[in-house]
Amino acid sequence: MTRSRADIAGVVGELTAQYYAQRATAGLIVSEATNISADAIGSPMTPGIWSDAQIEGWKKVTSAVHAAGGQIVMQLWHTGRVGHSTVRGGKLPLAPSAVSIVGQQTFTSTGLKDFEVPTAMSGDDVRATIGDFERGARNALAAGFDGVELHGAFGYLPHQFLVDSANQRTDEYGGSIANRARFVLEVMERLVCGAKGALAFGCHRRWLTTA
Ligand SMILES: Cc1cc2nc3c(=O)[nH]c(=O)nc-3n(C[C@H](O)[C@H](O)[C@H](O)COP(=O)(O)O)c2cc1C
Repeated sequence: MTRSRADIAGVVGELTAQYYAQRATAGLIVSEATNISADAIGSPMTPGIWSDAQIEGWKKVTSAVHAAGGQIVMQLWHTGRVGHSTVRGGKLPLAPSAVSIVGQQTFTSTGLKDFEVPTAMSGDDVRATIGDFERGARNALAAGFDGVELHGAFGYLPHQFLVDSANQRTDEYGGSIANRARFVLEVMERLVCGAKGALAFGCHRRWLTTA
């Protein structure tokens, strides 16, 4: 679970290596949610997997877990509208549509705040974000992780695309169930086929075209 123990650049250190090594006897660890890009950030001091320094930090964690006999996969994260400009250098969160969360508050570096109206992603934003997930998976493998998991739950970006309460897009990523599922399926395709190589997993595009 999210521990908020990374530094301001999203780099994890010795404390995180110690934390995960202590849990290596679990057998398989799924890491805390890890931002795939600066745009993915929703909460302060959460780790990332887009920079070389972040990869180097995670190598300490995977080495410690492996040395203790465990395995560890990285949970890849994009928070979408579950974020706040105060933890994003003043930039509003990106989301499928400009629809805010009401009735809840979000944890920021300066206390609890109401959610803001996010900026609706352009088609180019969507495609770039899918690429960011693939880069996150590649970087996770480079950092020594044994695999990756897409964080598709709890109202974060993939979930926001799936539900019509957050997704009011009129392009190919919104509307019908098939269109709302497209983002998750395209991300999964890139995670499975892009990060390890298409031949290794028998990748095909059939799941994207049958709905
Ligand atoms: C402080 C905190 C941090 C959390 N961080 C994560 C996380 O990084 N990834 C995740 O999938 N769930 C996270 N969760 C959600 C819990 O993992 C979730 O409650 C749990 O998966 C539910 O499991 P259960 O259905 O077995 O109770 C977090 C919850 C809390 C309270």
